[in-house]
Amino acid sequence: MTRAAAPGKIILLGEHAVVYGRPAIAVPVRQLQAVAHVEHLRDGRPNDVLIESRATGLGGWLSEMSADEPLARITGLALDRLGGLNGRSITVRVESEIPIASGLGSSAAVSVAVARAVSSYIGRPFDPAVVSELAFEVEKLHHGTPSGIDNTVIAFDRPVYFVKGSAPETLTVGATFDFLIADSGQASSTAVAVAHVRHRWEADRAALERVFDAIGGLVDRARTVFQGGRTKELGPLMDENQAHLEWLGVSSPDLDRLIRAARAAGAYGAKLSGGGMGGHMIAAVPEGGATPIVEAVQAAGAAHVLTTRVEP
Ligand code: MEV
Repeated sequence: MTRAAAPGKIILLGEHAVVYGRPAIAVPVRQLQAVAHVEHLRDGRPNDVLIESRATGLGGWLSEMSADEPLARITGLALDRLGGLNGRSITVRVESEIPIASGLGSSAAVSVAVARAVSSYIGRPFDPAVVSELAFEVEKLHHGTPSGIDNTVIAFDRPVYFVKGSAPETLTVGATFDFLIADSGQASSTAVAVAHVRHRWEADRAALERVFDAIGGLVDRARTVFQGGRTKELGPLMDENQAHLEWLGVSSPDLDRLIRAARAAGAYGAKLSGGGMGGHMIAAVPEGGATPIVEAVQAAGAAHVLTTRVEP
Protein backbone atom coordinates (compact mmCIF):
# COMPACT_ATOMS: atom_id res chain seq x y z
CA MET A 1 0.00 0.00 0.00
CA THR A 2 1.16 3.56 -0.73
CA ARG A 3 0.11 6.43 1.48
CA ALA A 4 0.52 10.17 0.88
CA ALA A 5 -0.64 13.18 2.85
CA ALA A 6 -1.19 16.86 2.16
CA PRO A 7 -1.66 19.76 4.60
CA GLY A 8 -4.39 22.36 4.91
CA LYS A 9 -3.56 26.02 4.33
CA ILE A 10 -4.31 29.55 5.50
CA ILE A 11 -3.97 32.72 3.47
CA LEU A 12 -2.16 35.32 5.57
CA LEU A 13 -2.96 38.21 3.25
CA GLY A 14 -4.25 38.78 -0.26
CA GLU A 15 -7.26 36.50 -0.84
CA HIS A 16 -9.68 37.63 -3.56
CA ALA A 17 -7.25 40.28 -4.89
CA VAL A 18 -5.05 37.32 -5.89
CA VAL A 19 -7.76 36.22 -8.35
CA TYR A 20 -7.18 39.60 -10.10
CA GLY A 21 -3.42 39.24 -10.43
CA ARG A 22 -2.27 40.76 -7.13
CA PRO A 23 0.13 38.86 -4.84
CA ALA A 24 -0.92 36.85 -1.78
CA ILE A 25 0.92 35.02 1.00
CA ALA A 26 -0.20 31.60 2.22
CA VAL A 27 1.26 29.02 4.60
CA PRO A 28 0.59 25.29 5.03
CA VAL A 29 -1.19 24.06 8.18
CA ARG A 30 0.33 20.66 8.92
CA GLN A 31 -1.90 19.84 11.91
CA LEU A 32 -4.70 19.25 9.44
CA GLN A 33 -4.16 16.64 6.76
CA ALA A 34 -5.82 14.94 3.85
CA VAL A 35 -4.53 11.41 3.29
CA ALA A 36 -4.78 9.13 0.24
CA HIS A 37 -4.05 5.39 0.20
CA VAL A 38 -3.47 3.45 -3.00
CA GLU A 39 -3.51 -0.35 -3.10
CA HIS A 40 -3.42 -3.10 -5.67
CA LEU A 41 -6.87 -4.64 -6.05
CA ARG A 42 -6.82 -8.37 -6.64
CA ASP A 43 -9.69 -9.50 -8.90
CA GLY A 44 -10.55 -5.86 -9.64
CA ARG A 45 -11.38 -4.45 -13.04
CA PRO A 46 -8.25 -4.11 -15.21
CA ASN A 47 -7.22 -0.48 -15.85
CA ASP A 48 -9.87 0.78 -13.46
CA VAL A 49 -9.81 2.40 -10.03
CA LEU A 50 -12.17 1.79 -7.13
CA ILE A 51 -12.49 5.18 -5.44
CA GLU A 52 -13.64 5.59 -1.88
CA SER A 53 -13.87 8.83 0.10
CA ARG A 54 -14.52 8.74 3.82
CA ALA A 55 -14.87 12.55 3.78
CA THR A 56 -17.76 12.73 1.31
CA GLY A 57 -19.14 9.18 1.35
CA LEU A 58 -18.37 8.90 -2.37
CA GLY A 59 -17.57 5.45 -3.71
CA GLY A 60 -17.45 3.71 -7.09
CA TRP A 61 -15.42 2.80 -10.15
CA LEU A 62 -13.58 5.60 -11.89
CA SER A 63 -14.88 4.42 -15.28
CA GLU A 64 -18.47 4.98 -14.10
CA MET A 65 -18.00 8.34 -12.41
CA SER A 66 -18.72 11.74 -13.89
CA ALA A 67 -15.58 13.53 -15.03
CA ASP A 68 -16.84 16.52 -13.01
CA GLU A 69 -16.43 14.57 -9.80
CA PRO A 70 -13.25 16.07 -8.27
CA LEU A 71 -11.82 12.77 -7.01
CA ALA A 72 -12.43 11.09 -10.35
CA ARG A 73 -10.85 14.05 -12.13
CA ILE A 74 -7.62 14.10 -10.11
CA THR A 75 -7.24 10.32 -10.28
CA GLY A 76 -7.79 10.36 -14.05
CA LEU A 77 -5.41 13.29 -14.58
CA ALA A 78 -2.68 11.63 -12.52
CA LEU A 79 -3.03 8.31 -14.36
CA ASP A 80 -3.07 9.99 -17.78
CA ARG A 81 0.16 11.78 -16.90
CA LEU A 82 1.69 8.46 -15.78
CA GLY A 83 0.62 6.53 -18.88
CA GLY A 84 -2.16 4.48 -17.27
CA LEU A 85 -2.30 1.37 -15.12
CA ASN A 86 -0.93 -1.20 -17.60
CA GLY A 87 -3.74 -3.62 -16.90
CA ARG A 88 -3.65 -3.26 -13.14
CA SER A 89 -6.61 -2.49 -10.88
CA ILE A 90 -6.22 -0.30 -7.82
CA THR A 91 -8.18 1.30 -5.01
CA VAL A 92 -7.77 4.95 -4.06
CA ARG A 93 -9.07 5.66 -0.56
CA VAL A 94 -9.21 9.20 0.80
CA GLU A 95 -9.75 10.59 4.25
CA SER A 96 -9.39 14.16 5.43
CA GLU A 97 -9.47 15.98 8.72
CA ILE A 98 -9.54 19.35 6.98
CA PRO A 99 -13.03 20.79 7.40
CA ILE A 100 -14.73 21.25 4.03
CA ALA A 101 -16.23 24.59 2.93
CA SER A 102 -14.21 26.53 5.47
CA GLY A 103 -11.36 28.28 3.67
CA LEU A 104 -8.66 25.82 4.74
CA GLY A 105 -7.97 24.30 1.33
CA SER A 106 -9.65 20.93 1.82
CA SER A 107 -10.40 20.42 -1.88
CA ALA A 108 -6.85 21.19 -3.00
CA ALA A 109 -5.38 19.04 -0.20
CA VAL A 110 -7.41 16.00 -1.28
CA SER A 111 -6.26 16.46 -4.89
CA VAL A 112 -2.62 16.86 -3.84
CA ALA A 113 -2.74 13.77 -1.60
CA VAL A 114 -4.26 11.67 -4.42
CA ALA A 115 -1.77 12.88 -7.07
CA ARG A 116 1.12 12.15 -4.71
CA ALA A 117 -0.16 8.73 -3.69
CA VAL A 118 -0.99 7.53 -7.22
CA SER A 119 2.35 8.68 -8.67
CA SER A 120 4.30 7.15 -5.78
CA TYR A 121 2.40 3.89 -6.17
CA ILE A 122 3.33 3.76 -9.87
CA GLY A 123 6.93 4.41 -8.82
CA ARG A 124 7.31 7.83 -10.46
CA PRO A 125 6.46 10.40 -7.78
CA PHE A 126 5.44 13.74 -9.27
CA ASP A 127 7.42 16.79 -8.27
CA PRO A 128 5.50 19.59 -6.49
CA ALA A 129 5.06 21.67 -9.65
CA VAL A 130 3.30 18.79 -11.43
CA VAL A 131 1.16 17.98 -8.38
CA SER A 132 0.15 21.65 -8.21
CA GLU A 133 -0.64 21.82 -11.93
CA LEU A 134 -2.93 18.76 -11.78
CA ALA A 135 -4.67 19.93 -8.58
CA PHE A 136 -5.24 23.33 -10.23
CA GLU A 137 -7.28 21.60 -12.97
CA VAL A 138 -9.55 20.22 -10.26
CA GLU A 139 -9.78 23.56 -8.43
CA LYS A 140 -11.41 24.91 -11.60
CA LEU A 141 -14.33 22.54 -10.97
CA HIS A 142 -14.91 24.16 -7.56
CA HIS A 143 -14.93 27.74 -8.77
CA GLY A 144 -14.35 28.82 -12.33
CA THR A 145 -11.54 31.34 -11.77
CA PRO A 146 -9.20 29.99 -9.08
CA SER A 147 -5.96 31.89 -8.67
CA GLY A 148 -4.07 28.65 -7.98
CA ILE A 149 -2.82 29.71 -4.57
CA ASP A 150 -4.41 26.80 -2.67
CA ASN A 151 -2.95 24.03 -4.85
CA THR A 152 0.42 25.83 -4.88
CA VAL A 153 0.94 26.30 -1.14
CA ILE A 154 -0.33 22.78 -0.44
CA ALA A 155 1.72 21.06 -3.16
CA PHE A 156 4.93 22.91 -2.23
CA ASP A 157 4.17 22.58 1.50
CA ARG A 158 6.07 25.81 2.21
CA PRO A 159 5.06 29.43 2.88
CA VAL A 160 4.59 31.06 -0.53
CA TYR A 161 4.38 34.52 -2.05
CA PHE A 162 2.11 33.84 -4.96
CA VAL A 163 1.12 35.72 -8.10
CA LYS A 164 -1.28 34.00 -10.48
CA GLY A 165 0.49 32.68 -13.55
CA SER A 166 4.03 33.08 -12.11
CA ALA A 167 6.27 30.49 -10.52
CA PRO A 168 5.67 30.63 -6.75
CA GLU A 169 8.31 32.18 -4.54
CA THR A 170 8.82 30.16 -1.36
CA LEU A 171 9.40 32.33 1.71
CA THR A 172 11.77 31.80 4.59
CA VAL A 173 10.65 33.60 7.72
CA GLY A 174 13.07 35.51 9.90
CA ALA A 175 11.49 34.49 13.23
CA THR A 176 8.78 32.23 14.63
CA PHE A 177 5.27 33.41 13.77
CA ASP A 178 2.34 31.96 15.74
CA PHE A 179 -1.21 32.06 14.42
CA LEU A 180 -4.58 31.14 15.82
CA ILE A 181 -7.16 29.67 13.43
CA ALA A 182 -10.80 29.78 14.50
CA ASP A 183 -13.88 28.35 12.84
CA SER A 184 -16.84 30.72 12.65
CA GLY A 185 -19.08 27.65 12.50
CA GLN A 186 -20.67 29.03 9.34
CA ALA A 187 -20.08 27.00 6.16
CA SER A 188 -18.60 29.07 3.37
CA SER A 189 -18.46 28.50 -0.36
CA THR A 190 -15.39 29.89 -2.09
CA ALA A 191 -17.36 29.80 -5.35
CA VAL A 192 -20.11 32.02 -3.90
CA ALA A 193 -17.64 34.48 -2.34
CA VAL A 194 -15.58 34.71 -5.55
CA ALA A 195 -18.78 35.25 -7.60
CA HIS A 196 -19.86 38.00 -5.18
CA VAL A 197 -16.58 39.87 -5.66
CA ARG A 198 -16.87 39.34 -9.44
CA HIS A 199 -20.30 41.04 -9.46
CA ARG A 200 -18.92 43.98 -7.47
CA TRP A 201 -15.99 44.23 -9.91
CA GLU A 202 -18.28 44.13 -12.93
CA ALA A 203 -20.40 46.93 -11.43
CA ASP A 204 -17.45 49.22 -10.59
CA ARG A 205 -14.13 48.03 -11.94
CA ALA A 206 -12.19 51.20 -11.08
CA ALA A 207 -13.11 51.06 -7.38
CA LEU A 208 -12.42 47.35 -7.08
CA GLU A 209 -9.08 47.62 -8.86
CA ARG A 210 -8.08 50.34 -6.37
CA VAL A 211 -8.92 48.04 -3.46
CA PHE A 212 -7.02 45.16 -5.06
CA ASP A 213 -4.01 47.45 -5.51
CA ALA A 214 -4.20 48.44 -1.85
CA ILE A 215 -4.36 44.78 -0.79
CA GLY A 216 -1.42 43.95 -3.07
CA GLY A 217 0.57 46.75 -1.41
CA LEU A 218 -0.15 45.27 2.03
CA VAL A 219 1.00 41.85 0.82
CA ASP A 220 4.30 43.28 -0.41
CA ARG A 221 4.88 44.98 2.93
CA ALA A 222 3.95 41.75 4.72
CA ARG A 223 6.51 39.82 2.69
CA THR A 224 9.27 42.09 3.99
CA VAL A 225 7.96 41.92 7.56
CA PHE A 226 7.60 38.13 7.37
CA GLN A 227 11.08 37.58 5.96
CA GLY A 228 12.54 40.07 8.42
CA GLY A 229 10.96 38.24 11.37
CA ARG A 230 9.16 41.41 12.59
CA THR A 231 6.24 39.49 14.11
CA LYS A 232 4.32 42.41 15.67
CA GLU A 233 4.30 44.37 12.42
CA LEU A 234 2.34 41.70 10.58
CA GLY A 235 -0.77 42.35 12.72
CA PRO A 236 -1.64 45.88 11.53
CA LEU A 237 -1.21 44.77 7.90
CA MET A 238 -3.68 41.93 8.52
CA ASP A 239 -6.12 44.38 10.15
CA GLU A 240 -5.93 46.68 7.14
CA ASN A 241 -6.45 43.74 4.81
CA GLN A 242 -9.54 42.77 6.83
CA ALA A 243 -10.97 46.29 6.42
CA HIS A 244 -10.70 45.89 2.64
CA LEU A 245 -12.30 42.43 2.78
CA GLU A 246 -15.19 43.90 4.81
CA TRP A 247 -15.62 46.59 2.18
CA LEU A 248 -15.70 43.86 -0.49
CA GLY A 249 -18.56 42.24 1.45
CA VAL A 250 -16.92 38.88 2.14
CA SER A 251 -16.73 39.09 5.93
CA SER A 252 -19.71 38.13 8.11
CA PRO A 253 -21.06 39.08 11.55
CA ASP A 254 -19.71 35.81 12.99
CA LEU A 255 -16.23 36.41 11.56
CA ASP A 256 -16.28 40.06 12.68
CA ARG A 257 -17.15 39.02 16.25
CA LEU A 258 -14.25 36.53 16.46
CA ILE A 259 -11.85 39.04 14.89
CA ARG A 260 -12.83 41.73 17.42
CA ALA A 261 -12.46 39.26 20.30
CA ALA A 262 -8.98 38.20 19.17
CA ARG A 263 -7.78 41.79 18.84
CA ALA A 264 -9.23 42.79 22.24
CA ALA A 265 -7.45 39.81 23.87
CA GLY A 266 -4.03 40.88 22.58
CA ALA A 267 -3.65 39.50 19.06
CA TYR A 268 -1.26 41.54 16.90
CA GLY A 269 -3.90 41.50 14.17
CA ALA A 270 -6.76 39.40 12.82
CA LYS A 271 -8.71 38.81 9.62
CA LEU A 272 -10.77 36.25 7.76
CA SER A 273 -8.79 33.71 5.73
CA GLY A 274 -9.80 32.17 2.40
CA GLY A 275 -13.01 32.97 0.58
CA GLY A 276 -14.82 34.33 3.65
CA MET A 277 -18.62 34.71 4.07
CA GLY A 278 -18.13 32.25 6.93
CA GLY A 279 -15.32 29.73 7.30
CA HIS A 280 -12.24 30.56 9.32
CA MET A 281 -10.54 33.65 10.75
CA ILE A 282 -6.88 33.87 11.69
CA ALA A 283 -4.99 35.99 14.20
CA ALA A 284 -1.28 36.69 14.57
CA VAL A 285 -0.53 36.00 18.24
CA PRO A 286 2.53 36.58 20.47
CA GLU A 287 4.90 33.61 20.46
CA GLY A 288 3.83 31.26 23.23
CA GLY A 289 1.04 33.68 24.22
CA ALA A 290 -1.95 32.24 22.38
CA THR A 291 -3.91 30.91 25.39
CA PRO A 292 -5.85 34.06 26.44
CA ILE A 293 -6.65 34.82 22.81
CA VAL A 294 -7.83 31.25 22.19
CA GLU A 295 -10.08 31.54 25.26
CA ALA A 296 -11.48 34.90 24.14
CA VAL A 297 -12.27 33.60 20.68
CA GLN A 298 -13.93 30.50 22.17
CA ALA A 299 -16.00 32.71 24.49
CA ALA A 300 -17.03 34.74 21.42
CA GLY A 301 -18.51 31.58 19.91
CA ALA A 302 -15.77 29.95 17.81
CA ALA A 303 -16.78 26.42 16.86
CA HIS A 304 -13.19 25.15 16.85
CA VAL A 305 -9.82 26.80 17.48
CA LEU A 306 -6.28 25.65 16.78
CA THR A 307 -2.88 27.27 16.70
CA THR A 308 -0.17 26.86 14.12
CA ARG A 309 3.43 28.00 13.90
CA VAL A 310 5.63 29.11 11.01
CA GLU A 311 9.30 28.62 11.85
CA PRO A 312 12.52 29.85 10.25
C1 MEV B 1 -9.37 30.84 -1.63
O1 MEV B 1 -8.57 30.15 -0.71
C2 MEV B 1 -8.75 32.17 -1.97
C3 MEV B 1 -9.51 33.04 -2.95
O2 MEV B 1 -8.64 34.15 -3.23
C4 MEV B 1 -9.86 32.33 -4.22
C5 MEV B 1 -8.64 31.98 -5.08
O3 MEV B 1 -7.57 32.52 -4.89
O4 MEV B 1 -8.83 31.16 -5.99
C6 MEV B 1 -10.78 33.60 -2.34
